[in-house]
Amino acid sequence: MAAGNRTQWSSGFGFVLAAVGSAVGLGNIWKFPYMTHSNGGGLFVLVYLLAVFIVAFPIVIAEMSLGRSARLNAMGTFKKLSKNSPFWKGLGLLCIFSSMIIFSYYSVVAGWTIDYFIESITGSLHKLSANTTESHFIGFLGSPWKQVGFHSFFMFITAFIVLRGTSGIEKAVKIMMPALGIMIFIIASISIYNYGISDTWNFLFNFNLAQLNSSSVLEAVGQAFFSLSLGLGCILVYGSYLPKDVSLVKSGIWIVVFDTLIAIMACFMMYPIIFGTNMEIKQSATILFTSLTVQFNQLPGGAFISAIFYLLVAFAALTSTISLLEPVVSFVHETFDISRKKATIWCSVTIWFIGIGSALANGASLFFTKLAVMDRLDSLTANWTLPIGGMLIAIFTGWFFSKEKRLAEFNENERKYFVPVWTFVIKFLSPILVCVVICYKLGLFH
Ligand code: PHE
Repeated sequence: MAAGNRTQWSSGFGFVLAAVGSAVGLGNIWKFPYMTHSNGGGLFVLVYLLAVFIVAFPIVIAEMSLGRSARLNAMGTFKKLSKNSPFWKGLGLLCIFSSMIIFSYYSVVAGWTIDYFIESITGSLHKLSANTTESHFIGFLGSPWKQVGFHSFFMFITAFIVLRGTSGIEKAVKIMMPALGIMIFIIASISIYNYGISDTWNFLFNFNLAQLNSSSVLEAVGQAFFSLSLGLGCILVYGSYLPKDVSLVKSGIWIVVFDTLIAIMACFMMYPIIFGTNMEIKQSATILFTSLTVQFNQLPGGAFISAIFYLLVAFAALTSTISLLEPVVSFVHETFDISRKKATIWCSVTIWFIGIGSALANGASLFFTKLAVMDRLDSLTANWTLPIGGMLIAIFTGWFFSKEKRLAEFNENERKYFVPVWTFVIKFLSPILVCVVICYKLGLFH
């Protein structure tokens, strides 16, 4: 993950783990379950899955192939491969913009997981019941000091790691990511055992076409990009460290399947509790912090399990924020000729400052809450800049990345069976689908 010097991943496995580290995070564990909840389930999940496999997966491969071919960061890649075209350099800037904005509010939510880790240890979560968990959480959101404090703390840790190098983190990813996957699986099994599976199953997989509306379709597509860290050059940068003999197709499949499994399992972890105890959820965005508390409080050693769980989620968030900050820092460091250390400090302080609006936007300040700063920044990036960035990356790979270079990234078998379909998809299908979804949302078809 080191920038500047082009070290390579020791193996395809190391790359997949790092990319999974970036992809798996709050998007899967916090955002997907709550968006599915607020969008009424069924159809949202179906559109999401279609978006992941038809639109996003080909773009994952596109980003990896561009990065491995150019061996540069996103901006450098577009500059080099487009021979300095201002339009494609603009795409590089859009990527940097998305990274900064996403990091600014992501760090706030990551801060919540740290607080819940601490509250698990001190025992204050243990007193709550199904009726009081939400008000407890909303009370926490209303405290400006805590909100800004935890946001600052998380920002600081990310900056510290980006500054010191990520080699230790890579080793940790190898243990923490599988541990998180196993833990989610176990908690989901307990939830299903205690509260039954049928309501959750029906909610997630039964759909009714009458639910279709432009906002939830755009949100599902946007969430596919967000969850896969796609459309802002993250996967591209990771691909630039990938040895030539690793199969992009296989790596891509691993990333997409793992990311999707975690998101679906996260729903199975929370929904049975919500349906089984008839919890009244006023704000879907709180469910990661409300539903599970009920479950943890019934388990022997629940406080300990809860602490480990929120710590692993915080760690998953950290591997995502590192992948958000790193490209911004290396861009500033390489473009403006300032030291890496200064670049890290300046970028983090700027992003931290932008994040204060989001930290105060959930009840801590009337002004920022009314402006709905966090929701707006989230929607601006996840629903607009990521899909647009992804669409442009597909177009760039399909039309401006020479055929020989493109083919050089695949082995013989893949060239025969995979590349023709993939090329069609990134040249036409993915860009057209994203464009249609955006036009649908803008009301151009009415
Ligand atoms: N994919 C991460 C998640 O699901 C968020 C992220 C988005 C990280 C974009 C990097 C880039 O939590």
